[in-house]
Amino acid sequence: MSQLDQKSQGWSALFSEPMSELVKRYTASVEFDRRLWRADIEGSLAHAAMLAKQGVIAPADLQAIQAGLAQVTREIESGAFEWKLDLEDVHLNIEARLTQIAGEAGKRLHTGRSRNDQVATDIRLWLRGEIDAISLLLVELQKTLVGVAQQHADTVMPGFTHLQVAQPVSFGHHMLAYVEMFARDHDRLQDARRRVNQLPLGAAALAGTSYPLDREFVARELGMEGVCRNSLDAVSDRDFAIEFASAASLAMVHVSRLSEELVLWMSQSFGFIRLPDRFTTGSSIMPQKKNPDVPELARGKTGRVVGHLVGLLTLMKGQPLAYNKDNQEDKEPLFDTCDTLKDTLRIFVEMMAGLEVNAAAMEQAALKGYATATDLADYLVKKGLPFRDAHETVAHAVKAATSHKCDLTELPLAVLKQFNAAIEKDVYDAMSLRGSLNARGVLGGTAPAQVQAQVAHHRARLGN
Ligand code: ARG
Repeated sequence: MSQLDQKSQGWSALFSEPMSELVKRYTASVEFDRRLWRADIEGSLAHAAMLAKQGVIAPADLQAIQAGLAQVTREIESGAFEWKLDLEDVHLNIEARLTQIAGEAGKRLHTGRSRNDQVATDIRLWLRGEIDAISLLLVELQKTLVGVAQQHADTVMPGFTHLQVAQPVSFGHHMLAYVEMFARDHDRLQDARRRVNQLPLGAAALAGTSYPLDREFVARELGMEGVCRNSLDAVSDRDFAIEFASAASLAMVHVSRLSEELVLWMSQSFGFIRLPDRFTTGSSIMPQKKNPDVPELARGKTGRVVGHLVGLLTLMKGQPLAYNKDNQEDKEPLFDTCDTLKDTLRIFVEMMAGLEVNAAAMEQAALKGYATATDLADYLVKKGLPFRDAHETVAHAVKAATSHKCDLTELPLAVLKQFNAAIEKDVYDAMSLRGSLNARGVLGGTAPAQVQAQVAHHRARLGN
């Protein structure tokens, strides 16, 4: 019986009684960390190749390990692999099976290695793959939103501050605001990736190892950008996971803000958009209802992802150097963060591509609330008035329009002239929605031409 097979009886000769069943379940992680199996095998193959290259194990051992791990891979992929709670985690399960298949050679794999540097390596490899998948989805979402923006550069909607009508904006411009946010999310993930992609293996339990390991070789084999340069730090810190969770939280927060807008825009009071039916749900009691469940859930799931970030930070804060079992608790929040973010992004790519815009309703809404009052002030400034005086003059004009229950553009020229004699007929163009929009051609402004320029910028950047 190999030592790992004996584990159900106890860890080693040192233990005089087997682990209690309750403790076994409490400490085991295999139910969730088996997700790391591919990374675990990848790391083991690189470690074994290095051990052979350094003459620590024989070439025949390497061959047996490679063949054995290939078999383990097939067994896991086909579902034939038997995961055992007794073997605690993904690492011990795979190593035990390898040893059944490869005998002595299997027992040599763990030379110069501990589960502490092994697990840190596995999570980093796994997370690197997730970051790449999420980054692709963020690019897809940006491309989709750029498409909507291009189509709606000329669609006017009320822009809000304090959720009060402020100034008219292009709906395309509004969409591009989210493109900017998701571009930064992508950037943040790529930046975090560099720090995820560093190799802990070789740190062993905590102090490094006495075997002549070539850590740089292992890093190259695994496509990692560098080697963790302090063994205590390598096995213990999970800051890379926390950083990732923070970037993921921000991405979810951005999705959540968009969700909140979709919910508002879909409501009868706004009526700005329709979501494709396959993204909405009905009510079991009110037959007229179509509910924006997807954006609402995305908004809700943001709380869950932010919760994982806080969980991971809290997990780390009290830990002395070096490895502590607390760190086993990093996995479920990390896994759930990735699953939630990926599902959310996937669904948003599709949903936003199917967005139906009611341009007429947006335009009607932009005509309410004196959205172009600033344009009248700007008009007066161009006639030579100091801005503060113009601001005051327009306030009087708005007051007059309010008491007549009409828009500024509906006040006759003679009335407008009472507020300032310099006002001419061309003021009506300046106060129109299109006039207001077109005037804001400054870099980053809402003029349709500027929106199209930004669309071109994003298309070039995203390569589409
Ligand atoms: N399952 C453990 C984890 O996720 C692996 C490392 C265990 N190391 C140890 N010394 N008990 O962190």
